[in-house]
Amino acid sequence: MTMHMRTFRQRYFCVASLSCAAVLCYLFYNRQLYETPGTASAHNVEDDVSEPSNSPEPDVQLFATFPSFRQEENLTATEGILCIDEGEARWQFRLPKALIIGVRKGGTRVLLDILARHPSVKACAREVHFFDRQENHKLGLDWYSSQMPLSLEADIVIERAPAYFISDDAPRLIYKMSPSVKLLVVVRDPTVRAISDYAELFDKYHGEMKPFEEYVTADSKHNVVKTYSEIVNTGVYTSHLNNWMKYFPLEQFHFVSGELLFRDPVQEIKEVENFLALKPFIDEKLFYFNKTKGFPCLAPAFKKNGQNAVSGCLSDTKGRPHPAVNEDVVTLLRDYYRPFNEHFYRVVRRNFAWP
Ligand code: A3P
Repeated sequence: MTMHMRTFRQRYFCVASLSCAAVLCYLFYNRQLYETPGTASAHNVEDDVSEPSNSPEPDVQLFATFPSFRQEENLTATEGILCIDEGEARWQFRLPKALIIGVRKGGTRVLLDILARHPSVKACAREVHFFDRQENHKLGLDWYSSQMPLSLEADIVIERAPAYFISDDAPRLIYKMSPSVKLLVVVRDPTVRAISDYAELFDKYHGEMKPFEEYVTADSKHNVVKTYSEIVNTGVYTSHLNNWMKYFPLEQFHFVSGELLFRDPVQEIKEVENFLALKPFIDEKLFYFNKTKGFPCLAPAFKKNGQNAVSGCLSDTKGRPHPAVNEDVVTLLRDYYRPFNEHFYRVVRRNFAWP
């Protein structure tokens, strides 16, 4: 009888372990399809609706990015956290050490994709909307960290969530998670940003939109700025930053120029590496100039069967053509933003020189 029980227990244990290991492998492999560490990977499922992932096609090399990927029997689960036991080095789901909090249409996606090439960065594949949506936030921090890619203690886990920058509650909730988290903000000429935002919505709603001029002005002659419109208000960076600075000191922010990220990504990224205390890694060799797109793209991340894998260029939803806008409305917006911009330059101690 005892013998019988022992055999039964052994069998049960064996089947349970194998099932767990299989589930772990499946989860782990699936994550890599979307977020291979060290590759351009962020796929924004909701905000960049039509954006296909640029991640290289999955193949066996994905596993090569975890050189010491262990056998199934060495996978362990402790205290509800999935770990791959590596002795000193432990792959775990961890909370982000840095967040790209905005601004929408500033160039947040390209920033994440470039940083994801750094071996010490683990970039979250999608926007989790943990700090700006109650239904997600109530799932708790364990859930949030389980949405992150696996990482080692020394890695920098980054989530990109442009919706956070304009959220009233996100700064407080993020501070509660980690008062020392580093905050990256990509800023861009707010007038151009507004047009870019409109262009995205125009695509999303298949052109079923009022003209841009009507979105951003409150009168039929287009002489009064519709300050309460989100397309306009998002560009008043100083007012949103104010909300964040109630919780975080200026030293915890780094502001990236969206314009330079487009023209000279390497220089801007060097500053970001420095801010995140990363070893310098991103250089010119990671980029090439794409004539069709008209801007620098990341070089393909992997070689597959001797050929380059999918390009590191962002999809057509990034860098899409902007609609022609009434020049008077452009001037109206520029005049509206100018004093806010100047205040913003003073606060962040960098002059972005927007017209
Ligand atoms: P446009 O589509 O208006 O040109 P976000 O990722 O925050 O939504 O920002 C999108 C913007 O990133 C694009 O706006 C584009 O200008 C900018 N960008 C900067 N570098 C880019 C790159 N290498 N490829 C595509 N877009 C880039």
